[in-house]
Amino acid sequence: MSEKLQIVAVSGAHGLLGSTLLRTQITGFSTTGLSADIRDSRAVFSEIEACKPQWIIHTAAKTDVGNCERNPEQAHAVNVEGTKNVIEAVRAANARLIYISTVSVFPGHEGNYKEEDVPEPVNTYNKTKREGELAALSYEKGVVLRLNLVGVHPDGSRGKNFLEWLIDSIRLNKDISLFNDQFVNPLSNWTVASIIKMMIEKDSSEKILHIGSSDTLSKAAIGKLVLARFPEYRGIVVEKSIESIADGVTRPRHMWLNVERASALFGPFSTVEQELDTLFQKSPFKEE
Ligand SMILES: NC(=O)c1ccc[n+]([C@@H]2O[C@H](COP(=O)([O-])OP(=O)(O)OC[C@H]3O[C@@H](n4cnc5c(N)ncnc54)[C@H](OP(=O)(O)O)[C@@H]3O)[C@@H](O)[C@H]2O)c1
Repeated sequence: MSEKLQIVAVSGAHGLLGSTLLRTQITGFSTTGLSADIRDSRAVFSEIEACKPQWIIHTAAKTDVGNCERNPEQAHAVNVEGTKNVIEAVRAANARLIYISTVSVFPGHEGNYKEEDVPEPVNTYNKTKREGELAALSYEKGVVLRLNLVGVHPDGSRGKNFLEWLIDSIRLNKDISLFNDQFVNPLSNWTVASIIKMMIEKDSSEKILHIGSSDTLSKAAIGKLVLARFPEYRGIVVEKSIESIADGVTRPRHMWLNVERASALFGPFSTVEQELDTLFQKSPFKEE
C-alpha cells in the first residue's frame, strides 16, 4: 500500500509565488492552496484545521508598496493582523511555518544584509512585513525566509511587478524608464519555490534564511538583460533615479542579501541572467 502524503498548505495561493508553489512537486507531500481571507480569523482557523497540514507557506500579503503607503490600515490588517491569524491557526495545528519576507525590511543603505543584521524598515509595506516577521519568529516552529523576486505569474502577466510591467511595456513598444540606483539580487519565482521545496524535504531548522542570486545588479542592468531578449522592441529607454518616483514613499536602494548561509545549505545560487533564462523557458513568456 502506498504511504499517505503529508500536506503543505499555501496562503496567497493565487499570487505569483503561491501559484508557483502549487505547481512544485515536493517529495512525500501534497500541496494545497488556502482560500480564506486571512483577516477572518475564524475562517482561517477552520480551513487550516480541516486540511491538517504539516507545513504552511505563508505568502499572502498586500504587496503593492505605493498602495500600502496610501492605505496603511489595510496593509496592517492583512500583513500584520492577518499574519497573526495564520500563525495562531498554525500553532493550533502544531504545524511548521515558513513566512515569506523581503530584503526590504532593511533600510537599504549598503546591502549585503546577513541573517543576524537588524531590520530597520523605512516604509509602510516594509514595516508591516517586519511586524509579520516578528510574529512568525515568536512561534517556535516559525521560519522567516527573506528574498527578492523576479517573475511573471504562471497564468500570465497581471502587470503587477517589475518584470510583468517591463515585458508588457516591451510588447506594446512603450517607452521605458529604468532605475539605475536601486540594486537587487533577485531569484525567479521558480527558484524560490524550489528552495522552499528543499527546505521542507531537508527539514531545514534555520530560523531566518536569506536567499538571492549570486550577483547584484541595478534594476536598469536587469532591464537591459531583458530588453536584449526582445530585438524587435522599438520604444525609447531612459535611465532614472529611484528618487524620481514622486509619491512620497521612501524606497531602499540596496535591496540585496548576503546568501552565504543558504548557499552552504543548498548549493551555489545562479546569476540574475541565469534566473532570467529559467523564466524565459516558462510558458507565459512565449508569444501566443
Ligand atoms: N514580489 C516580490 O518582489 C516580493 C519580494 C520579496 C518578498 N515578497 C513577499 O513574497 C510573498 C508573495 O509575494 P507575491 O509576489 O507572490 O505577491 P502577490 O502576487 O501579490 O500575491 C499575494 C497574494 O496574497 C493574496 N492576499 C492579499 N490579501 C489577502 C487576504 N486578506 N487574504 C488572503 N489572501 C490575500 C493576494 O490576493 P489578491 O491578489 O486577490 O489580493 C495574492 O494572491 C509576499 O508575502 C511578499 O511580501 C515578494
